[in-house]
Amino acid sequence: MISELKLNNFRCFETSIINLSPGINFFYGPNGSGKTSILEAIYICSSGKSFKSSNIKSLISFDQDFFSINAYDSNKGYTLNLVKSRTSPISIKINNTKSTTSALLKEFPATAIHNNTFSFANASPDFRRKILDRSLFVSNPNFSETWFGFYRSLKQRNSSLKKGFIDNIDVWNQKVSEEGVALDINRITFFEDSLSELNSIFSRLKPSPMVDKLNKVKIEFFSGWDKETQLYELLAQNQKKDLFSKTTTQGPHKADIKILIKGMDAKQILSRGEQKILSILWCCSQNEVLRKKYNIDATLIIDDIKSELDNATFEVFLNLLNFLDNQVIFSCIDDHFSSKINPNYKDFKKFHVEQLR
Ligand SMILES: Nc1ncnc2c1ncn2[C@@H]1O[C@H](COP(=O)(O)OP(=O)(O)O)[C@@H](O)[C@H]1O
Ligand SMILES: [Mg+2]
Repeated sequence: MISELKLNNFRCFETSIINLSPGINFFYGPNGSGKTSILEAIYICSSGKSFKSSNIKSLISFDQDFFSINAYDSNKGYTLNLVKSRTSPISIKINNTKSTTSALLKEFPATAIHNNTFSFANASPDFRRKILDRSLFVSNPNFSETWFGFYRSLKQRNSSLKKGFIDNIDVWNQKVSEEGVALDINRITFFEDSLSELNSIFSRLKPSPMVDKLNKVKIEFFSGWDKETQLYELLAQNQKKDLFSKTTTQGPHKADIKILIKGMDAKQILSRGEQKILSILWCCSQNEVLRKKYNIDATLIIDDIKSELDNATFEVFLNLLNFLDNQVIFSCIDDHFSSKINPNYKDFKKFHVEQLR
């Protein structure tokens, strides 16, 4: 978990040093003051990517040739050094040693909830699956082998289907199912653990009609195929259909986390604020699993907390902050923790973004 962040020529920041709390960090300031940029910089430390811009070059301050982000994790004693120039790809160094984006995720894991992805319920299955898989990458050293193994075999099977060449397809049915089942077991375990953390969070939240309502949501893991049938049998059965579609129609690559109310897709029913707080609760649950079961500190980043949240859902968020032990970093236009509301959160830090520039 990052405790110190230094930005150079990063968007609107020329040089800024930010000392983060291991607990709750709150950034506030008017539009354009740089809140999203700071959260974006922290997210880049975990992924090498921006959650806002697909072209990372656009993050270099106008009239400058490069940006750099230096971070320090005081728990691990690790340093991180990221440099992006206009002409070369991003350079990543962990403890002064050249490193990769996947190492970033392992060493500085973070999840971001922002305006484009505030709703899990409304996102694509792909998005929900990725959030789950990211936690597995972080916590299970063998997971990347399982994951890549499966997707490599799937690609081979799909390429045979595309060519209409299926004399050898049974080999790929076997490989896809073998590796797919392993992948599925990993996902189910992490999902089940997260679900029980979610229930534990619900039991600690102060009772309110909103909490009751959110607690009615059923979250289910879908493996990507009907589990009545063995994956291998299913792939064999689907061969003709898949040949016609030129792709593997069912399997772990279609896995999803279903969010339901009375059997119906929750996105049809929940308000945007309810969807957002539910996403926050789910991310917290995953981070709780990482911390409790694997001793990994993961950070939750939430940009623009108040957008979409009404008073009832914001109350749930404020209540949640009382008992989270992970690092949370969030932003808002208004200072919600002024004289009136003086939170007694453990390790609470408030930053006026305009003063950081
Ligand atoms: N590459 C850049 N160089 C200089 N300024 C930038 C760059 N990219 C964005 N900005 C500016 O940075 C400011 C802060 O943006 P942002 O972090 O989105 O603010 P907030 O989230 O507080 O509304 C904006 O005024 C924006 O125009
Ligand atoms: Mg913003």
